[in-house]
Amino acid sequence: MKKMLMSTMLFAAFMGTAGSVMAADGEALYKSKCLMCHGADGKGTPMGPAFAGNEFVKSGTEAAIADVIVKGREGDAKVYKNIALGMPAQKLGDEEVSALVAYLKSLGAK
Ligand code: HEC
Repeated sequence: MKKMLMSTMLFAAFMGTAGSVMAADGEALYKSKCLMCHGADGKGTPMGPAFAGNEFVKSGTEAAIADVIVKGREGDAKVYKNIALGMPAQKLGDEEVSALVAYLKSLGAK
């Protein structure tokens, strides 16, 4: 019984760490792959729209946001006609995309 309690506690501690590592990953990925166009703190640049206060990022479903990240958005699909560039499709794993979506949501809420 004591042993079971111990492993439950270890499991909980592990899950806690895994959660915070994933959130940190989203930020690190953002800084290495997205910041150059979307700006520090999601403030936007002439090469990419801002995420801070962005309705799509704030209210869009995770699936819709993940879709833009994975497939990109270029040509006729573009929403921001004032930005010449399109959103380049990103080669990322599912976990990386979820971590990024969570981080974008935190920027969108700013
Ligand atoms: C080369 C510049 C560039 C890079 C790098 C880039 N983006 Fe984008 N992104 C854009 C542009 C430009 C758009 C706007 C496309 C349009 O007109 O709809 C965009 C749009 C988006 C949108 C939709 C925003 C909205 O309001 O509709 C999301 C979400 C997004 N990018 C996420 C990311 C993430 C996450 C990364 C990093 C993994 C990233 N982008 C990297 C240029 C970039």
